[in-house]
Amino acid sequence: MSSRPRPVAAPRPDVAADEPGAAAVASAAPPAGMVEVHGVSKFFGDVVAVSDVTFAVRAGVTALLGPNGAGKSTLFRMMCGLTPPSRGTVRVLGADARSDRDVRGRIGLSPQQDALFDRLDALEFTAVAAATQGVTDPEAAARHALGIVELDPDDGRPVSGYSKGMRQRTKLAAALVHDPEVLILDEPLNGLDPVQRRRMIELLEELGAQGRCVLVSSHVLEEVARLGSRILVIAQGRLVASGDYRELRELMDDRPHRISIEADRPRDCAAALVTSGTVVGVHIDGDVVVADTLEVDRLGREIAPLAKDLGARLREVIPLDEDLESVFRYLVERR
Ligand SMILES: Nc1ncnc2c1ncn2[C@@H]1O[C@H](COP(=O)(O)OP(=O)(O)OP(=O)(O)O)[C@@H](O)[C@H]1O
Ligand SMILES: [Mg+2]
Repeated sequence: MSSRPRPVAAPRPDVAADEPGAAAVASAAPPAGMVEVHGVSKFFGDVVAVSDVTFAVRAGVTALLGPNGAGKSTLFRMMCGLTPPSRGTVRVLGADARSDRDVRGRIGLSPQQDALFDRLDALEFTAVAAATQGVTDPEAAARHALGIVELDPDDGRPVSGYSKGMRQRTKLAAALVHDPEVLILDEPLNGLDPVQRRRMIELLEELGAQGRCVLVSSHVLEEVARLGSRILVIAQGRLVASGDYRELRELMDDRPHRISIEADRPRDCAAALVTSGTVVGVHIDGDVVVADTLEVDRLGREIAPLAKDLGARLREVIPLDEDLESVFRYLVERR
């Protein structure tokens, strides 16, 4: 484990996690924000989808980052009042969306599913969403919302013929059509090419800068990297870290890395690695030395001379845990 101070502490349950460093500041007060999640758990039978999560989100863009099955959609569904928490409270604009109709009308949801009414065109689809929200002039509102997402309201093609990026924007228009203060967007960047993604991110930033609370989920770190947003990291139903992209990157770089070293005389190599102090853990797996290190670069520099001194032939050195899943695992385990 590193001796460097951690830039992002895992949030305490009683602390608002919506500002970089906020997680390290103790407070007895419950979190204050446009969306407040306090001690929330959600069980589906034996499955713990969300486990004792607390955070508060203010205006601007906030990303909910986590691997598949982390509990992101379940959290979003609870915020929208679509399903109740098993424990804890979820408040949006100070109210419970399950019991407060007014507040439901101030939330816009773009669901994860790519299910649109495929035979409708974008104007019809968005106008249906407007009518569902009780907007006075659904067509005018739909035209306005499609303008915001830069789609042509008079395109006339059914949305089934739209590209993934256009479908995502149609869903955003439908979520926006009643001018909500809180926008909950489940994987809105999914499936977009880099140009579409950049434009969508600009759009989300603009919506956040207007004073809306924009919550965006993703399971891809690079997707949220360009959002100048706060990031809440959810894994296995728990909030495991929060901060901005740079802080999370540092936290990830700070974790032990697992390296596979294939060499002759693995036991001697392992012993020499421990003696040299470059590893924090080591075990032998067949002919392979599996080493955990906080200093990948140093290990990379020192392993060849070390093997040479032992008269052992070095065959392969490969990192085992460069994927984001292992980062999430690390964040869960360190709690
Ligand atoms: N209605 C449900 N019934 C039973 N289990 C559910 C239900 N909804 C979600 N789950 C389970 O809860 C956990 C969290 O699921 P959720 O869909 O919230 O994750 P997610 O972070 O949105 O994942 P993904 O990135 O795949 O969309 C998963 O184990 C999932 O299988
Ligand atoms: Mg989901």
